[in-house]
Amino acid sequence: MPETPHDRLLVVDFGSQVTQLIARRLRELNIYCEIHPFQNVDSDFLRGFAPKAIILSGGPASVLDADSPRPPERVFDLGVPVLGICYGQQVMAQMLGGVVERGGGNREFGRARVEPGPGRSPLLADWFADGQEQVWMSHGDHVSEIPPGFKVLATSTGAPFAVTADEDRRFYAVQFHPEAHHTPRGRTLLRNFARIAGFRGDWTMSAYREEAIRSIQDKVGDAKVICGLSGGVDSAVAAVLIHEAIGDGLTCVFVDHGLLRLNEAREVVSMFRDAYNIPLMHADESALFLTGLEGVVDPEAKRKTIGRLFIDVFRKHAEEVGGADFLAQGTLYPDVIESVSFSGGPSATIKSHHNVGGLPEELGLELVEPLRDLFKDEVRALGRELGLPESFIGRHPFPGPGLAIRCPGEVTPEKLDILRRADAVYIDQIRKHGLYDDIWQAFAALLPVRTVGVMGDGRTYEHACVLRAVTSVDGMTADYYPFSHEFLGETATRIINEVEGINRVTYDITSKPPGTIEWE
Ligand code: XMP
Repeated sequence: MPETPHDRLLVVDFGSQVTQLIARRLRELNIYCEIHPFQNVDSDFLRGFAPKAIILSGGPASVLDADSPRPPERVFDLGVPVLGICYGQQVMAQMLGGVVERGGGNREFGRARVEPGPGRSPLLADWFADGQEQVWMSHGDHVSEIPPGFKVLATSTGAPFAVTADEDRRFYAVQFHPEAHHTPRGRTLLRNFARIAGFRGDWTMSAYREEAIRSIQDKVGDAKVICGLSGGVDSAVAAVLIHEAIGDGLTCVFVDHGLLRLNEAREVVSMFRDAYNIPLMHADESALFLTGLEGVVDPEAKRKTIGRLFIDVFRKHAEEVGGADFLAQGTLYPDVIESVSFSGGPSATIKSHHNVGGLPEELGLELVEPLRDLFKDEVRALGRELGLPESFIGRHPFPGPGLAIRCPGEVTPEKLDILRRADAVYIDQIRKHGLYDDIWQAFAALLPVRTVGVMGDGRTYEHACVLRAVTSVDGMTADYYPFSHEFLGETATRIINEVEGINRVTYDITSKPPGTIEWE
């Protein structure tokens, strides 16, 4: 959703770590594309999807192994341009009559430089600015003989067939990763491929907004929709979009679990009710949640308690709204992509994430997920398109279980109050120093220890807090943010002076992995 009338590019995923980046780069070029695992791509699928071009991704397998993954032959009979990247290049060479060999002296991992080969092609238009291009290689096997009809467009020391093409059939093959950051001008190559395929680059946010609105109207008709607001960007954008589509057929339910940041509930309520006139039920259930969390120390038990209460409370209020048929959720594309995993089995549960998962079945409601096709930064762009304030759109992510997972040990109203005030000072400092937008996420956590300090002439025995700030692309991995010592010193002083109950401030310099972003 929405059913796009735009030309579509299909990315067949063979499990590369960077497959998502192919989609990112293409979306930046206003080209609509979807990633699908190779297992799902058969002739029927291709007929339904009707791609205008196909990209075969990289992947960890070797085409020389038995049962190595392949796209269906049909991919090469559709008459549409095909680009093979790394593993995709090798599988393409093998299927079209070339030869692939194991590594030997030709393994390449890391930066490499490619130079023009004898052939010319629009694929490399505007490339080779300095007679060479830096690219990112990551391959053990290599193509040792190109298929009939192919010519060499670029070479590198380790890959004589760095870029090859069969121009008549519009088949292109690159040994390196044009989507990776370390191929600085790889976007040009992807743009050229899309141009060869005839993409117009017309997949813009304003077009998306109109299509999404139409498709919500078609799906929902006169029925009622409820939307759980979390205070985060995704549910807010989903709500505003749905409200544009169906007006007051939408009711938002904002469950205040008492684990929000300073003034957060007030801000959310006033934005939706006053600025957008969206019917909003503000359910202050903090007492219920805080009672439920009494004595709960184990982090998973906390998450489960909050998840369970959330479902109960949401259900109660959904029933009060009455007669809803649909539940709106701010599900994003990265949650939808079924990436291929070659590491075997589902990944271990590190934490039980809490959103509103489980609710649709509980409530017997159908889902409306208007952001399912979008990456996080695209949701922000859509939010801007819908006129949401910049201060709201640029906000750092905030977890569903809220401050409960920033308060290791038992969560009490007293601790939450201290934590809220420390967090507010910290974020104020970050904003004052103009650092907010450079940081993916920043927050304070309150440690479950008390420490001895001295203030004035007296002994103190109070809480220690930890400050966390990370840079990240998607929250899956993260680096701690390198604040200056001056910034950290000033912030620690402010927190201790302004927040009664804290006498020690520390800064967390753990990256993820091995740490996680949240403290719990
Ligand atoms: P961790 O701590 O797992 O966090 O490194 C990664 C990102 O996910 C956020 N997070 C959550 N978001 N519900 C959410 O909506 C949750 O239960 C949850 N737990 C962690 C976290 O804030 C970070 O951005």
